[in-house]
Amino acid sequence: MTSQALDEIKIGGLGSSRKRVEDDRFIRGRGNYTDDIVLPGMLHMEILRSPLPHARIKSIDASKAWEIPGVHLVLTGEMMATRNLAWMPTLSYDTQAVLATDKVRFQGQEVACVIADDPYIAKDACEAIEVDYEPLPVIVNPWQATADGAPVIRDDKVNQADNVVYNWEVGDRAGTDRAFEQADVISKLELHYPRSHPSPIECCGSIADFNRATSKLTVYMTTQAPHIIRAAVAMVAELPEQMIRIISPDIGGGFGNKVPVYPGYVCSILASILLERPVKWIEDKTGNLISTGFARDIYLKGEMALRRDGKILGVRMHTDADHGAFFSDAQPSKFKIGLMHSAFAAYDIPAAHLTARGLYTNKAPGGVAYRCSFRVTEAMFFQERMVQAAADDLGMDQAAFRRMNFVRDDDFPHRTPFGFLTDSGQYAKCLDVGLKAIDYENFREEQAAARQRGRLLGLGISTMTEPLGAGNSREYDILGIKMFDSAELKVHMTGKAILRTGAKTQGQGHETTWAQIVAHELGIPADDVVVEEGDTDTAPFGMGTYASRSTPVAGAAVAMVSRKIRAKARKLAAHLLEVSEEDVEWELGRFYVRSSPGRGVTIQECAMAAYSNMPDGMEPGLENTAYYDPPNLTWPFAVYIVTVEVDPETGVWDVLKMVAVDDCGVRINPMIVEGQIMGGLTEAYAMSSMQFITFDADGNCVGSNYMDYLLPTAWETPGYELHSEVVTPCPHHPIGAKGIGECAAVGGPAAFVNAVIDALTGTGVRNIDMPVLPDRVWEAITYRRDVSGAPPVRQDE
Ligand code: CDP
Repeated sequence: MTSQALDEIKIGGLGSSRKRVEDDRFIRGRGNYTDDIVLPGMLHMEILRSPLPHARIKSIDASKAWEIPGVHLVLTGEMMATRNLAWMPTLSYDTQAVLATDKVRFQGQEVACVIADDPYIAKDACEAIEVDYEPLPVIVNPWQATADGAPVIRDDKVNQADNVVYNWEVGDRAGTDRAFEQADVISKLELHYPRSHPSPIECCGSIADFNRATSKLTVYMTTQAPHIIRAAVAMVAELPEQMIRIISPDIGGGFGNKVPVYPGYVCSILASILLERPVKWIEDKTGNLISTGFARDIYLKGEMALRRDGKILGVRMHTDADHGAFFSDAQPSKFKIGLMHSAFAAYDIPAAHLTARGLYTNKAPGGVAYRCSFRVTEAMFFQERMVQAAADDLGMDQAAFRRMNFVRDDDFPHRTPFGFLTDSGQYAKCLDVGLKAIDYENFREEQAAARQRGRLLGLGISTMTEPLGAGNSREYDILGIKMFDSAELKVHMTGKAILRTGAKTQGQGHETTWAQIVAHELGIPADDVVVEEGDTDTAPFGMGTYASRSTPVAGAAVAMVSRKIRAKARKLAAHLLEVSEEDVEWELGRFYVRSSPGRGVTIQECAMAAYSNMPDGMEPGLENTAYYDPPNLTWPFAVYIVTVEVDPETGVWDVLKMVAVDDCGVRINPMIVEGQIMGGLTEAYAMSSMQFITFDADGNCVGSNYMDYLLPTAWETPGYELHSEVVTPCPHHPIGAKGIGECAAVGGPAAFVNAVIDALTGTGVRNIDMPVLPDRVWEAITYRRDVSGAPPVRQDE
């Protein structure tokens, strides 16, 4: 039989590097972002923020603001309190002030809002509001938070006598103790992953439009999770959920920053309800950097129990996480420190134990998973820094130490020391590809020779395996809502289709790749499938896009709904071909009669029949919905290797070469996957070399603008060599795909830092905290000591 199946690459199916359909509007400047939307009668809102990090509010006098022509409303905490809206619940079972009533608890906290004819009047009116603050002692790190006599930041909470948010532990304490008793060598390292910020180019914003005549509230907003926002608005504002429509238009980058609910959203909604006019709030860059979800800010004390021959016997980790003034992490509810315990999943380690403590400080709340699955970035950074230090302590080769301890290919599914079940991987093969690409042996020789001449070359390896696709409903929920996702597919009578999912793209290219999954499953060309996301009135319920969960969960739902459509189309085909369903075979784009392969009907003919010639008793139409509750997380793996040269005179370091070997299972669109990896590596480079938000001893945020918070441009960004030759399909995902969006940002930072530390071999320097700034490197070389990145404390302490 000669197959008449379609050429999958030609129709834009799996494996096709189809050009991104959304770029057509983006590169022409025709995207439709929240700030592009203008509604008739629209007013503008600005927020007054606290200049102080910790102060009691003695009084707020807004009378002068009310007098300014063009001002329609001034909202204060007191007014919010009369509507029970001064505080709101967070995604981590804490509360967060919407507008401050009693105290301000971080610099930049929302104190009042003005709604006016234009944003300039609103801004001027904010400045006319007089707030009388009584300054309080400031806490900017965990040590101050736990010091004797430390002021209690959350004195609003009953039974909160200190600044501890939680104490949490996971793993096998007794087994780990035994491993340490048997160890030949114990390797120790203390690290800080500094506070960083996702800093999307588009800041947060919303336009609330309450229509009194219909009682319908429509909110256009920058959210990565529109359905969760709808549920939150319904519950917090006690509005009927069916009367709330959240629309996420185009989003200019999210990276986790656009998951939480922010006070600005709540205030614009209340203002629109009170004024019965649309109210737009668009945050400025400083507002975004100082008040919205930060990431990381976590300290590690790590220890590894090692056998002399290199076998890792056990790992102990303790983390102190600085959560800022409100515990508002967006993460699965069961896990207090996110998925930090995914650390060491790629290594075969008999026992591990993690204790985690969360602390309130006078900093903005957040703890968002910045391009990361709930603290996995920190986990992988700590893991790979500890692995390098352990190999050094044993005097072993970095690569050999890793290879010896990797989970072997035939050991899957593998139970990790903290209890996850990893699905598949070829870790040693990825490492081999990376070592070959970097020319490992030759580089080591070159490095030794260069050292003789006073040149400092270094090589850093980092590996990562990331739990992507949160998650199965047995273990993963946010505020009790299970973390499944959805897809709805409607095939029109001409064979063209519209697909909607509960995910929400922010630049990742879902409009392109979801259509490719439909093409793969049904043979409908990807160009014939339009993809829509982000409107809660039209899209099926989903938990949104973050933590690289879209492909593992929503992408799987797209495959499953396509299969439901195919099952119905098969019945239609049997009817058209006048044979029984059992006699019908499928090849891409076409059903045919098994005994007579030349006799067949295309998927498009089946679609037409669904509206014009269905068999008796069949429900007309060709559409369906699938909700996908993943059986497990997907576990991509990567090896990143970087070589650097450090200038011993200045501490400046330059990347010589970087190779990335990513195994994310089946690649839907190889070009998009490469784009995701390059973007992630660039963010990793930024975090390791230049980027952090810090605070001075008085709690002032340093890093509140792009002069201080650095984003690498094309000028600074190094080149990357990407390798795709290792493909381990995910055994439980319908098309074998694993997530990729975050992998390089997760695994990349340790490669850069390890390379700089490797260049300093022989100086006794074991650690320089990120960002590895030239002055820190210079200090390490000059004084032969580790350089900590912990924020300063006051001189008088
Ligand atoms: O959740 P998010 O979209 O941020 O991350 P993702 O699911 O890892 O996907 C990022 C982009 O890469 C999407 O356009 C995916 O469809 C695409 N992708 C792919 O083409 N092949 C994979 N195996 C994984 C993702």
